[in-house]
Amino acid sequence: MEQTLAIFKPDCIERKLMGKIITMIENADFAILDIKMVQLTTTAARAFYAVHKGKPFFEKLIEFMTENPILVAVLQKENAVQDWRDLMGDTDPEHAGDGTIRNEFGETVRRNTVHGSDSVTHAKEEIAFFFSRNELLRINPQKS
Ligand code: RTP
Ligand code: MG
Repeated sequence: MEQTLAIFKPDCIERKLMGKIITMIENADFAILDIKMVQLTTTAARAFYAVHKGKPFFEKLIEFMTENPILVAVLQKENAVQDWRDLMGDTDPEHAGDGTIRNEFGETVRRNTVHGSDSVTHAKEEIAFFFSRNELLRINPQKS
């Protein structure tokens, strides 16, 4: 079964949208294998988003991602990476389709509420960034 990393970004936490988004995740039949609140430091945010280093939006993205706590979660289902990206919608909320999280809650292309891994390989790396193997073993992923 495939796993992906979801992040509820600082705008999501600030605007008290966690419950609504968890409900959307449950309704889309994802199993939540692990979930926790994290305060990203600037160093950690730069490491996590290293792939975007040098892009015009990089510094503002780091500022945004460290302005308040985030929630990180490991989601599991068949095709989890693509299905979570489909549920998030386009990066720019203006282009995100009906029923997607970013269409419903995203404010701008930066303050777009959620993150999702963009490939199975990156999902594995991103999950390992936030969760140790021991944490993932707290429940049996096969049964979820
Ligand atoms: P994410 O990685 O957060 O799931 O988003 P994504 O794949 O849809 O978009 P990506 O291109 O990976 O961009 C990462 C995050 O950077 C912010 N961003 N700001 N023009 C801008 O100001 C701009 N472009 C991207 C967004 O928060 C985006 O989700
Ligand atoms: Mg991305």
